[in-house]
Amino acid sequence: MTKFFASLSQESRIHRFFSLSQPNDKLIDSFCDDSDPHVTFTLVVNRLVDGNVSIIAAGSYAARDPTTAEVAMAVSDKFQGKGIGTLLLERLALVAVMNGFRRFSAVTMAENKPMLDVFRESGFTVHTKTNEGYVEIDLSVIPSEASVARAEMRDRISTTASLLPFFQPRSVAVVGASRNPASIGGRLLHALLTTGFQGSTYPINPHTSVVASLPTYPSARDLPEAADLAVITVPKDAVLDVVEDCAARGIKSLVVITAGFAEVGAEGRNLQQRLLEKVRGYGMRMIGPNCLGLLNTDPAVRLNASFAPDFPPAGQVAFCSQSGALGLVIIRIARERALGLSNFVSIGNKADVSSNDLLQYWEENKQTNVILLYLESFGNPRRFARIAKRVSRHKPVVAVKAGRTAAGRRAAGSHTAALAASDVAVEALFHQTGVIRADTLDEMFDLAAALTSQPLPAGRRVAILTNAGGLGILCADTCEANGLLVRELSDSTKERLRQFLPSNASVMNPVDMIASAGADDFRKAGEILVSADEIDALIVLYIDVAMTDTTDLAEGVAAGVLAGRAHRTARKKPVLACVMAGAGSGKPICAGSEQVPNYAFPENAARALGKITAYAEWRNQPEASIPDFNDIAPRTAREICQDALQRHGESWLSAEDLRKVLTAMSLPLPRGGVATTANEAARLAREIGFPVAVKLASRRIVHKTEVGGVRLNLQNESAVRQAFADIQERLGRAEKLDAMDGVLVQPMIPAGVELMVGVTQDPLFGPLIGFGLGGIHVEILKDVCFRVTPITDRDATELVRTIKGYRLLEGYRGHPPADISAIEELLLRVSRLVEEVPEISELDLNPVFALPPGQGCLIVDARIRVEH
Ligand code: COA
Repeated sequence: MTKFFASLSQESRIHRFFSLSQPNDKLIDSFCDDSDPHVTFTLVVNRLVDGNVSIIAAGSYAARDPTTAEVAMAVSDKFQGKGIGTLLLERLALVAVMNGFRRFSAVTMAENKPMLDVFRESGFTVHTKTNEGYVEIDLSVIPSEASVARAEMRDRISTTASLLPFFQPRSVAVVGASRNPASIGGRLLHALLTTGFQGSTYPINPHTSVVASLPTYPSARDLPEAADLAVITVPKDAVLDVVEDCAARGIKSLVVITAGFAEVGAEGRNLQQRLLEKVRGYGMRMIGPNCLGLLNTDPAVRLNASFAPDFPPAGQVAFCSQSGALGLVIIRIARERALGLSNFVSIGNKADVSSNDLLQYWEENKQTNVILLYLESFGNPRRFARIAKRVSRHKPVVAVKAGRTAAGRRAAGSHTAALAASDVAVEALFHQTGVIRADTLDEMFDLAAALTSQPLPAGRRVAILTNAGGLGILCADTCEANGLLVRELSDSTKERLRQFLPSNASVMNPVDMIASAGADDFRKAGEILVSADEIDALIVLYIDVAMTDTTDLAEGVAAGVLAGRAHRTARKKPVLACVMAGAGSGKPICAGSEQVPNYAFPENAARALGKITAYAEWRNQPEASIPDFNDIAPRTAREICQDALQRHGESWLSAEDLRKVLTAMSLPLPRGGVATTANEAARLAREIGFPVAVKLASRRIVHKTEVGGVRLNLQNESAVRQAFADIQERLGRAEKLDAMDGVLVQPMIPAGVELMVGVTQDPLFGPLIGFGLGGIHVEILKDVCFRVTPITDRDATELVRTIKGYRLLEGYRGHPPADISAIEELLLRVSRLVEEVPEISELDLNPVFALPPGQGCLIVDARIRVEH
């Protein structure tokens, strides 16, 4: 640190310390003291320079009082103006908030404009006061919508800029360009050259002077220019040295094809860590290791920096695959299905560049309109959630997440060093972020075909047009099973169809034109259906009974679609086809400049349309928000949990603490409290009013009913005293008396629908909130739905309505309806609680009684477990 401050220019030192002299040792020691972040905290930014680590920036805060800290920072002169100061402030603020601070104050010289800009551009609410050449700055460090938006924007801009050289390099070095054309390095060089890369190629190989007719360089250090991108295919023990060479030549982007890193165990993990430290230390970015490479089909680039022999047709689909081998197949299938790709990236072990980074890059990339992800793991699901939710609002993201089953997860773990995630959490995450989940690779291609060529539907109503009843039935069933509506057509549409169809054709829906239907019938019916007001989408099915050429038929369908599209209302209606058998089946049908995707089976078309429709609905909803509450004290809740953790270690909260935590979040609890003697219980009961319930209060006994710890409907004080004595006696007999903290006395609550709200911690995703009907329903019927926290107002609304038992909440056969908005609010408050108190490892509110509208709901029983 002393060296760093000494290295600053005079001007920078004056700006930081208001003095030319070096900071004294005592001050520097205080920066380096990391013993208590409630008092002081320093972050440093390291950079590798010629293999040595040196500090290039440092920022500190020091407490003025428990909620305000003074902040100051300095960035090495050479690295100023690159956003490091802003990042330091952002991270310091984060640490400060976690340690109870709410405000930062700072003093800076009025002439120090760059520093003032850092504060002003941070997105935090900043107040300044100028005083004799100095500016006093005061800012709230509590994350606000503006500060989060700024941080996200910075992340997006810097990520996109750092990835640009991967996709648009003007020159590529192939390090390990082998003389052996069959080796990976040889194949890669060949792919780069034969695809027609528009930039320069530099083969690097110390063992030869020429490869593939190109002169080689012994090392990246010898290159005539700093190549924009280096692709590394040398054996694993040589990779780290090659990275040094690349850094020395100023190369900033690396693709490491070489395998043998985190995917092979502890030693490989160690090597990968060292590789990553080098890459980050030099400020480089890296795709891989253990990957296939990347492709960009843009005619101005034509980059095949992979050892995939095929180059896909250019198009709008960007593909990120966590498996390289699968990537080879994917590129081949894309060719076969005429699906145009914009980019393909195999991210391998994703030590540095992740699918999250690529999502951000493709978000703004003009060539890309649909994003496909093959994922085996999530590095940072919370970041994925934030980015995917934003991207999905204007570009569809389709994901295949492998590892649904325990066996699949085991395989994923050893495959690309993936961290397994529970499928419930994955499902919830995709749902909340608008990501379309494809169950299979085949389905992913089906979805991509429709998303690239067809508009998103405005609703769920589908017309099915066929020449074979069987196909129509299969398709209709799958449509309905996937949330689509196959309703009877309007009278006027039926009438128009009847005018040219034979009498034994059916004009209901599906429209079965029977086997004799020809291309002209498909044209006429297609036009009528695409333009019919009662329809949001059309599926055309054809089976060629003669098994001959279907070209005519395809032309008929195309002409019908084109004619239909001439009607203004028909422009937003997707059309999907399934032309079975005969030559030409499987290929998309060209209707002018439009391509109608052509599926192998009617069910594929129906499933794809179902998922696309659900996505369109998600996208059309107004943006959701996480509401704030002004009657909550999350800090108090956290302090109680931390205190309990300190006193009792990892355990369930006592009834008293539990009550305090829930009260701090203004969660609806019945009146009453905990009594440690029979007399106290009687007094509490008197205050509450009879009848009351008396329940065992214990941190250790979780299932109170099983030990006879619950007495209901007690009508007077003596019954309460008796209940206390009974519970005591039962526990005494079971030799568990020391587990009794007392009893909880509650009023009897008028019966309502029993609900449950639970939270568990997923090791990767964090808190997962579950909601369902309580009591036996949850135990036997498992009618519970999950979301990843933090949940939005929309998540809460949806969660309540997704459970099968929702009809009960609406009021059903004598059951009064429930106060739904109170339930939604309860979910939002619980989500906030577990977000603010990471010590909560498990939470169970069961039962929660839902009372009639306007009367709220009540948490009748609860438990919270705290862990480190
Ligand atoms: N700089 C430049 N070139 C170097 C070098 C260095 N420091 N060290 C070696 N080379 C050259 C070699 O001379 C050789 O060229 P040559 O054949 O003309 O002599 C070339 O690099 C490759 O070295 P070689 O020892 O033949 O390695 P290899 O081809 O057997 O294996 C990998 C290299 C990267 C392919 C291999 O280590 C590997 O990781 N394979 C698995 C890759 C994989 O599956 N990735 C994931 C895909 S999904």
